[in-house]
Amino acid sequence: MTISVSEQTQVVIVGLGYVGLPLTLAFGEHFSCTGFDINSARVEGIKGGHDLHREVSSEQIKRSSVTFTTDPKCIRNADLVIVTVPTPITDDYEPDLNLLTSASKLIGMEFRKRTASETPPVVVFESTTYPGCTEDFCGPLIERESGLVSGDSFYLGYSPERTNFGDQEHSLDSVVKIISGQNSEVEQFIFDAYSKIATAGLHLAESIRVAESAKVIENIQRDLNIALFNELALIFEKMDIDSSAVFDAAATKWNFNRYAPGLVGGHCIPVDPYYLTHAAEQAGHTSKVVLAGRAVNEAMPAVLFEKIMALCTENGLTIETASILFLGATFKPDVSDLRNSKTLTLFGKLSGINSTTQLFEPNVNSEVIGKIVTQLVTETEVLNHRWDLVVIGVEHSKYSEELKDHLFGDKSRTELVVDIPGMLRDHDTISSPYLYWRL
Ligand SMILES: NC(=O)c1ccc[n+]([C@@H]2O[C@H](COP(=O)([O-])OP(=O)(O)OC[C@H]3O[C@@H](n4cnc5c(N)ncnc54)[C@H](O)[C@@H]3O)[C@@H](O)[C@H]2O)c1
Repeated sequence: MTISVSEQTQVVIVGLGYVGLPLTLAFGEHFSCTGFDINSARVEGIKGGHDLHREVSSEQIKRSSVTFTTDPKCIRNADLVIVTVPTPITDDYEPDLNLLTSASKLIGMEFRKRTASETPPVVVFESTTYPGCTEDFCGPLIERESGLVSGDSFYLGYSPERTNFGDQEHSLDSVVKIISGQNSEVEQFIFDAYSKIATAGLHLAESIRVAESAKVIENIQRDLNIALFNELALIFEKMDIDSSAVFDAAATKWNFNRYAPGLVGGHCIPVDPYYLTHAAEQAGHTSKVVLAGRAVNEAMPAVLFEKIMALCTENGLTIETASILFLGATFKPDVSDLRNSKTLTLFGKLSGINSTTQLFEPNVNSEVIGKIVTQLVTETEVLNHRWDLVVIGVEHSKYSEELKDHLFGDKSRTELVVDIPGMLRDHDTISSPYLYWRL
């Protein structure tokens, strides 16, 4: 039976998180679209026009024709099911496929209830995973639960999400999207459906495995490059050479790619490499370079903590009793996402040695962060204090000029500033009223 895309095509998105919700709204502009999630609080919040992750506005949700539900029945008659559930790692740094498993099984169970006369549905996975996972792991689960045959009575595809959340420049409509399918007919179907929403263009990968591999190496490349710059920064630190000046000089060469050293957190870059190293191991290759990069980046919170302790001692500050302010706790700038935040890990280490260490995090709802950190300060409290040590963890554009002036201006009331993201890059050590260190 042939499959084709039309205005009647029914699309269901499984998993309404950072990736799934914007995707649902985008597909909802062109097709009859349903957003499904097992988390009823999340679904109720969205129905009320509220996206906890602040990726989409209340207006965008309210003007959309999309239906949001926790009832998996919507999957039953869908023509296109897109899976955007999380793919984390276990405590042993192995892929944790539990959510992909439950989503695949659920899809299979619903497909079992389809009438035989319906055209075969297409299931596209967007969750980041290892090469082979869609066809060798998810497909067989759907087959087992549905009694259908992959590549015959349902089809598989893979289209990785590669937008950068919290970054308006690299969004769904401005980034080329990779698509792939099990055969040329499903490739055409996926191309026709996705071309409506990915207006920057589509890249048809040669196979599902190629598409899965491409996604995972995009993040591995970034992880490794940051690891290299972290290591270089630490080497030059020992040699008393300004690493930033070294990078500036080297970057004048046409083929030098500059990266910024720093903390690598979140749910993608520090997680995805383990999906490839797991698959590599299964294929008989033990990764060296990829895991070495991971080890360097994972060690950074501990390395920076030791550095802060040493800086305090060198400058006559007793870290245990100092008044310490920490700026930002999210895993990257200008997002509200705290998942796997290494900045938060560093804050935890500091507050472990000095329980009065305060955190200012203007980007996260105080109810959310209040469940993790109790030592929170408001901007007014920051302005009313003199701080022995200010650690800049994340560079948020929400820090007000008044706050920056109070902490880092000419008449700063701060003793020592540790600047991990290099927010005060152009800092002038000669005329500075405080001691300054950056990575
Ligand atoms: N967030 C990003 O920046 C980003 C970027 C690129 C790729 N990815 C990848 O996309 C995938 C999703 O990431 P995310 O950040 O959107 O995750 P998320 O945690 O924000 O959201 C996932 C949603 O899936 C729901 N869910 C879990 N199991 C389900 C099931 N069986 N059925 C229905 N819903 C289910 C959860 O309740 C949650 O609302 C991951 O594989 C991630 O690696 C994420």
